[in-house]
Amino acid sequence: MSTNVKPLRIGIIGSGGIAHAHVRQYKQLPGVEIVAVADVIPGKAKQFTESLSLTEAQAFDSHRSMLEMDLDGVSICTPNVSHHVTTVDALRAGKNVLLEKPMSVTLAEAVDMVQTARETGGMLTIGFQPRYDPNMKLVQDIVQSGKLGNVYYVETGGGRRRGMPGGTFISKALAGAGAMADIGCYSLDMALNALGYPRPLTVSAFTSNHFGTNPLYHPEASKFEVEDFGVAMVRFENDLVLQFKISWAMHMDTLGSTLFLGTDAGLKVNPHGTGNWSGVWDGKVGSMTLFHDFMGQQTSTPVPGIEHNKDLFFEKVRDFVDAVREGRPAPIPGEQILIQQAIIDGVIRSAELRREVEIKLPW
Ligand SMILES: NC(=O)c1ccc[n+]([C@@H]2O[C@H](COP(=O)([O-])OP(=O)(O)OC[C@H]3O[C@@H](n4cnc5c(N)ncnc54)[C@H](O)[C@@H]3O)[C@@H](O)[C@H]2O)c1
Repeated sequence: MSTNVKPLRIGIIGSGGIAHAHVRQYKQLPGVEIVAVADVIPGKAKQFTESLSLTEAQAFDSHRSMLEMDLDGVSICTPNVSHHVTTVDALRAGKNVLLEKPMSVTLAEAVDMVQTARETGGMLTIGFQPRYDPNMKLVQDIVQSGKLGNVYYVETGGGRRRGMPGGTFISKALAGAGAMADIGCYSLDMALNALGYPRPLTVSAFTSNHFGTNPLYHPEASKFEVEDFGVAMVRFENDLVLQFKISWAMHMDTLGSTLFLGTDAGLKVNPHGTGNWSGVWDGKVGSMTLFHDFMGQQTSTPVPGIEHNKDLFFEKVRDFVDAVREGRPAPIPGEQILIQQAIIDGVIRSAELRREVEIKLPW
């Protein structure tokens, strides 16, 4: 890049675990400067800038003070419950936003965030790095190619056998929801993105937390307030249904593959990897098979995966930076992710009420 191009000025809100990953990516991008970091815990942002040698960065104990600075974009890396206030404040302050997943806790928050982006003209993109996996695009291309015919049933989700986080992730007040929102949002994004984000109508869900609340399985059992398992049946327009299931912990190796059943063919997407934390579908596409009839014979055809060595997290941060520079629309728009947030909101309501609930989208 030419030396007379103004560097892109980035701020980070929330200086916990994932903020480190954001900083690592921004540091690799030419012409990008991290000039501000904010965290509500007094002194934490300062410690963060010092430990990561962010010598140009000012540290703040409030995101609102930070937002008074001249910034081109902000990464929002706070716990889920703070996504709404920080995003709305950043957009109102004229900043473009790369927001960590899940978008919010409730649908009402997501609607307000999208409306604020529309009013201010700011960009709101949600950080789903698996979207940058070419195999995720392949799933979408297969489903959208029409080869499956009319897709009427989808099953998605996955399960960690023993992969429960702690800290802010298990507090109802900070995370809002557990496994369904934390890793469920990835499964939902894979399925819904492939289907073109259809319009959901109702959700019937069940959630539990038998593992998280048991000291045998979780060191912070007395503080565990969210779900570690959930299953939901979601009805969409045009007679499409989706079964969605997620676990942070269970006595089972897997909750199965992602399945797309169509009138002409079916696609099975297997979970990627093995192990307590990674033997699941929480963002990575494994092997795939197409099931169809050929010359009257029931046939299954392996779909070769695309080999790549992309760093997906780097790609998501780079795409945000490029979109800001080029004045492009949000790479993964809030408007779209609002639809899966409506489902997660429905899951929480339905599980609490122990019955099916309607999903009412604002537009
Ligand atoms: N994309 C991914 O792969 C990925 C991975 C992990 C976490 N995440 C998401 O990132 C978010 C943060 O997760 P984490 O693991 O970094 O959590 P964390 O608890 O380690 O860090 C969050 C930080 O935000 C600060 N904070 C809270 N409210 C704030 C506010 N209003 N202003 C400024 N700072 C505030 C906290 O003090 C804390 O330091 C979560 O939403 C999580 O789902 C995404």
